[in-house]
Amino acid sequence: MATTYETLLFEVQDKTATITVNRPDKLNALNPTVIRELTRAVYEVSNSDAGAAIVTGAGDKAFVAGADIAAMSKMSTTEAKAFSDAGHRLAWHIEQSAVPFIAAVNGFALGGGTELALACDFIYASEKARFGQPEVNLGLMPGFGGTQRLARRIGIGRARELVYTGDLVNADESLRIGLINRVVPPGELMVAAREVAAKISSKAPVAIARCKRVMALGADTDLATACELEASAFHGLFGTEDAREGTRAFLEKRAPKFEGR
Ligand code: COA
Repeated sequence: MATTYETLLFEVQDKTATITVNRPDKLNALNPTVIRELTRAVYEVSNSDAGAAIVTGAGDKAFVAGADIAAMSKMSTTEAKAFSDAGHRLAWHIEQSAVPFIAAVNGFALGGGTELALACDFIYASEKARFGQPEVNLGLMPGFGGTQRLARRIGIGRARELVYTGDLVNADESLRIGLINRVVPPGELMVAAREVAAKISSKAPVAIARCKRVMALGADTDLATACELEASAFHGLFGTEDAREGTRAFLEKRAPKFEGR
C-alpha cells in the first residue's frame, strides 16, 4: 500500500520517483514532520522499482526556503539537537541509497534547502533558483551538513564566504562555481530532470549503485584507498547477470535488457 504523506507528494512513474516538498504557503520550509516524511520517502524509493529519484518543491517560488524558522524559534537546545540529527540522518539516507537522487531546484533553496540539494547526487536548477546559507542572519548556523558538504562541493574558500556572509547566489553563479550541473528555463526544469533520471534508470541498477557508493566513499578518502574500493566494486560486478547481458548485447549489436541482478 502506498504511504500517505502530510507534507509531501510522492510518485513513482516509469522507474523515476518524484518527491515534492508540499508546503508552498511556507515556501516548503523544513519542519520536523517534513524531515521525518522525507526520510520515509527515501526508504520508499529504495523499496520501489525506481532507478532514480527527483526531489523538488511545490509551487513556483521555492524548492525549500530553509528549516522552518517558526518551528526553530520555539526549540530548546535539546530539541534543536534532535532536529539537526534528523536532518543529518536524512542526508545520510539519501547518500546511502542505492538510487541516485537529483535535486530539481525550482526557486529558493536556502539554508536547509541548499543542504537538502547538496545531499542529492547532483543539482539541476531553473533560472529562478537562488542558493545560500543565510542562517547567520538569524543568529544560527547551518545544521544539516551545510558547513561540510558545501565546502566539499565548491571548495572551502567559496563555502566560507557564503556561510559567513549569508549571501545568496543566483543560478548562473551557482553553475559557474560548480554547485549545480545545469540551468534551464523554469518550464523545462522537470522535463530536464526526468530526462536525466530516465537515462540513469535505463542503465544496470547494480552498476549504478556501485558507482554511487564508491564515488561517495572515495570523495572523502585518500586516492589509494579510493581506487582499492573501485577495484573491489568493479570485479564484483562480473558476478552479475546484468554485466553478462550488457557485454553480450554490445557484441550482438543490440540494446541490453537489464534486470537489476
Ligand atoms: N521558515 C518558516 N517560514 C518561512 C520560511 C522559513 N524558512 N521561509 C518563508 N517562510 C514563510 C513566511 O514566513 C511566509 O509565511 P506567512 O505568509 O505565513 O507570513 C511565507 O513563507 C512566504 O514567505 P515571504 O517571506 O512572505 O516571501 P518573500 O517572497 O517575501 O521572501 C524569502 C522569500 C525566501 C526571501 C523569505 O521568505 C526568506 O528570507 N525566508 C527565510 C530564508 C532563511 O533564512 N532560510 C534559512 C532558515 S535556517
